[in-house]
Amino acid sequence: MSRVPVSAPGKAFLIGEYAVLEGARALVTAIDARAIAHDPHEPGAGDPTAVVRCAHARVQAYLEAHGFDQVGEPPTVETGGFTIGPRKLGLGSSAAVATAVVGFHLVEAGLDPTTPEVQSDALGLALAAHAEAQGGGGSGADVAAAVLGGIVGFERGEAHVVTATNWLAIGFVDVGMPAITSSFLRAVGDVKERNPVGYAEAISLLRQAAELFHDGFTSEPSGAKVTDAFAHICEATELHNRGLRLLQAVSGAPIMTPQIELVASLARASGLAVKPSGAGGGDLVVLFCPSRAELERFGERLRREHGISPLSELRLAAEGLRAEQRVPTNSRLAGFFQLSVSERRKAVSQATGVPLERFDALDRGGLDVHRANHMIENVVGTFELPLAIATNFRINGRDVLVPMCVEEASVVAAASNAAKMIRAGGGFIAHSDAPWMIAQIQLLRESSTGDADTTLRRISDQRMELLALADTAHPRLVARGGGARELELRKLASDMLAIHVLVDCQDAMGANLLNTVAETLAPELERITGWTAGLRILSNLSDKRCSHVRARIPPDALACQPWNGDDVITRIVAASRFAELDPYRAATHNKGIMNGVDAVVLATGNDWRAMEAGAHAFACRSGRYGPLAVWTRALDGCLEGRISFPTAVGVVGGATRVHPIASLALELLGCASGTELGQVVAAAGLATNLAALRALATEGIQRGHMSLHARTVAMAAGAQGDEVDLVARQLVEVREIKAERAANILEDIRTRTR
Ligand code: MEV
Repeated sequence: MSRVPVSAPGKAFLIGEYAVLEGARALVTAIDARAIAHDPHEPGAGDPTAVVRCAHARVQAYLEAHGFDQVGEPPTVETGGFTIGPRKLGLGSSAAVATAVVGFHLVEAGLDPTTPEVQSDALGLALAAHAEAQGGGGSGADVAAAVLGGIVGFERGEAHVVTATNWLAIGFVDVGMPAITSSFLRAVGDVKERNPVGYAEAISLLRQAAELFHDGFTSEPSGAKVTDAFAHICEATELHNRGLRLLQAVSGAPIMTPQIELVASLARASGLAVKPSGAGGGDLVVLFCPSRAELERFGERLRREHGISPLSELRLAAEGLRAEQRVPTNSRLAGFFQLSVSERRKAVSQATGVPLERFDALDRGGLDVHRANHMIENVVGTFELPLAIATNFRINGRDVLVPMCVEEASVVAAASNAAKMIRAGGGFIAHSDAPWMIAQIQLLRESSTGDADTTLRRISDQRMELLALADTAHPRLVARGGGARELELRKLASDMLAIHVLVDCQDAMGANLLNTVAETLAPELERITGWTAGLRILSNLSDKRCSHVRARIPPDALACQPWNGDDVITRIVAASRFAELDPYRAATHNKGIMNGVDAVVLATGNDWRAMEAGAHAFACRSGRYGPLAVWTRALDGCLEGRISFPTAVGVVGGATRVHPIASLALELLGCASGTELGQVVAAAGLATNLAALRALATEGIQRGHMSLHARTVAMAAGAQGDEVDLVARQLVEVREIKAERAANILEDIRTRTR
């Protein structure tokens, strides 16, 4: 019997909350945060939860009744993907878990969960298991989304997939409070008894809202009809919000929090439709707009002006229950550094599910000269660097093994050690800006046409036309959901303007794409203004596309003899202040960050010069060069580190798929998007920074560095296999890490073993 991993998506409500419990129609989208059921990695990986036990029992009874063999033990279920940013979001993880467990045992028995019959039985089993584990209360819409995927209409226990609409853009915002749905349901359930009239009035508004929304949503309008359909959506969401406010008034449950009301009023003022997604009380708010560009512009303003994060990483209408090719990665590979190269490959293959044969690319020298010859000019060969794997990384609740390509000894060990300390505090917490890049067009006043301010006004008047023209340069990007989002108009001098076109590049780094956009717009800008276009090229200061990563480390995880954890924190915080106060130190501090950053950027075939240029320009944005990461002591005594900087990386385009090793590296990482890869890059930078500061602030960098440097010197002297460690150890002992000394030691060793 095979034990194939099986996954199910989370969900978010579009409409119908609360009213669905009274038989109204709800619309729910599956979200690509997945619960993955798989074999336990280690024996004793914890007792199964109530949801897992109920799902296991139900599917066991079902399979026995249908004449299958007894099912195996319940699987381990990974739900790390539901943690986005600082906490687990209310994306229906328990429904996804119930569904994944049911699916796991069905697949184990040889059934295909994507066929209609098996899907329908899986839905029945998962609904029953979830209701049992939760003690009733929920509608089951979350389970329907987890099984069926896509966008699901749900009414009185009946579910059907609704064709995903392409006229209405949908976005989510995290309003920052964990919402305990069950406590809201309880409060609302109580009010049904205590104040049936108030309750019925609120539910009636919510029901009307759901009907109206459904009509608008499924109307498939085009052209001028879009405005009418959107008016339905706006009316429906407002009706829904009125219903929720009434429910709040009669139940006392804080459903429409001040933060939700703030986002709602800002969104309405920008012409968007808005409502809480789910029970309210914090967590998710959903936004609707016929224009994706308008929606993203709003998200960007929300982040910049109010510090509220749009969840640009959420992917909607995700696939339902499905078998997976690979197990969730386990990045804790104890003793990995002591293994031989081939043993390490085996361990990585096992930990990621990437087949061992894929590593063969590494033995063919990675990039063959013929392929290289097509990449750049005047090729005479290729140049190789070590590729290693950093362990222990856990980002937003998910383990990743991080491929790093770097020539400097100790970087990978440092990243792995720091990631282990950070893991002790729960791992890295990451979120990202939307993948907006900047295309720049320089405009020069070469004749006596209008002055700079008048010219900027003229361009501003044509903003929408210019954005539409920019989109003609990349219809395929637009079809994938990307495209031109905004113009930024900058007066640099009375005779020079810089026009920025902000383009959502989706999963590409975007350089070529942006240059084409700049070249497409330049003639039209010349025509509108009478000025002359100069340069037309992307900006590498991609400050709209930052990754933001945080980590907290408990003092005990930082202790190193003779310093206790608290002393180490004091020293690291002082080291961070040094970089904040002194650009000379900040440059070296950032070099340590780029040790991790560049190694991942290079391994994944991305443009590390672009990354360097962007990072250092960003480090200087206040007019003074400063550190990209800073460390402080948190109120609870933990060390807290934060890093934010532009991460213009992609998982498509450039060398990412052309270079066989880059594509292997991306496969090992399993990053679905450029945004996710950006978070890994930033986490690697924060890790190497922590390792460097901890060493520098305590015993100094040289001891650790020297033992690794000694290995390089030993190899340069001709040491092979086990000889490398023997020679390196002796070099460190005699405190003379020199080529000549290494040659002598090697000679001695060989004489003795002859
Ligand atoms: C060496 O590659 C990097 C360090 O100099 C970084 C730092 O000083 O923070 C150790």
